[in-house]
Amino acid sequence: MKHLVSIRDLDKTEALELLDSAQGMSQVNDRSIKKLPTLRGRTVVNLFYENSTRTRISFEIAAKRLSADVINVSADSSSVSKGESLKDTAQTLEALGADCIVIRHPMSGAAQQLAGMGWVNSSIINAGDGTHEHPTQALLDALTIQQRLGSDLTGCRVLIIGDVKHSRVARSNALLLSLLGADVQLAGPVSLVPMDLSALGVRISHDFDIALESTPDVVMMLRVQRERMLENFQESEAEYVNQWSLSRKRLSVLGDKSLIMHPGPINRGLEICSDAAEDSRSTILQQVKNGLAVRMAVLYRLLSEEQ
Ligand code: CP
Repeated sequence: MKHLVSIRDLDKTEALELLDSAQGMSQVNDRSIKKLPTLRGRTVVNLFYENSTRTRISFEIAAKRLSADVINVSADSSSVSKGESLKDTAQTLEALGADCIVIRHPMSGAAQQLAGMGWVNSSIINAGDGTHEHPTQALLDALTIQQRLGSDLTGCRVLIIGDVKHSRVARSNALLLSLLGADVQLAGPVSLVPMDLSALGVRISHDFDIALESTPDVVMMLRVQRERMLENFQESEAEYVNQWSLSRKRLSVLGDKSLIMHPGPINRGLEICSDAAEDSRSTILQQVKNGLAVRMAVLYRLLSEEQ
């Protein structure tokens, strides 16, 4: 495997191998000496055209834990702000020694373009492209579910709630969790859950309370992505909270063992109340921690000469 652009780049065996490797990396991260020499001499460039806390920092720490050199490039402090194209930027980074470019971009398909056009030889990792995909987020979510509920996700009932339309996290999770045998349901307002997503092999519904009656094993809340909305969301915010927030009332009907997930950053009081985010069933910070292990596993898989 040279690139990771989409969950579609993985078959079930490869996905499970990456998750096993990530579990091993998470044990390394719990040791007092956390560094491995595996990627010494390799260079990873984080090329971010959109803001990020979790993804950018965890890719940086992951590369450092594997002894790679890592450089962070943000669009607004680079020559991208002078109009330099994606192709010229990537070729410049490769000329400076990049073996791997981790890219986050507002345009769906940007990572695929970089991997597929032959502009560079570097490995490309998609760290989130527009509303398309965020494959390492789905892998860290799957690892978190495995750690809490057991490694076989066959039949695991996962309910993904909210702004599905703008969510690359929802797309990557629908693909990966279905691949691993989970029963995935997407639910949200009609305007925010495109029906064509049923082509991903998932069920679609438009009533949170009815969906909760089936006592899902996992309730994955999505961030409302105001920045990607063309229409003014402000006017319908109260209605959204009423229909789609994981509120105290809905928290009280969740099963004792149901997981509450959210990729972050969270909008407290909008898609999730603080009590839910901080509940013992919430995995939000475990997901962040697993992001480091998963990104170590992906970098190792793509860049290690032992592979
Ligand atoms: N979940 C996620 O991608 O968070 P960041 O935008 O902070 O990277």
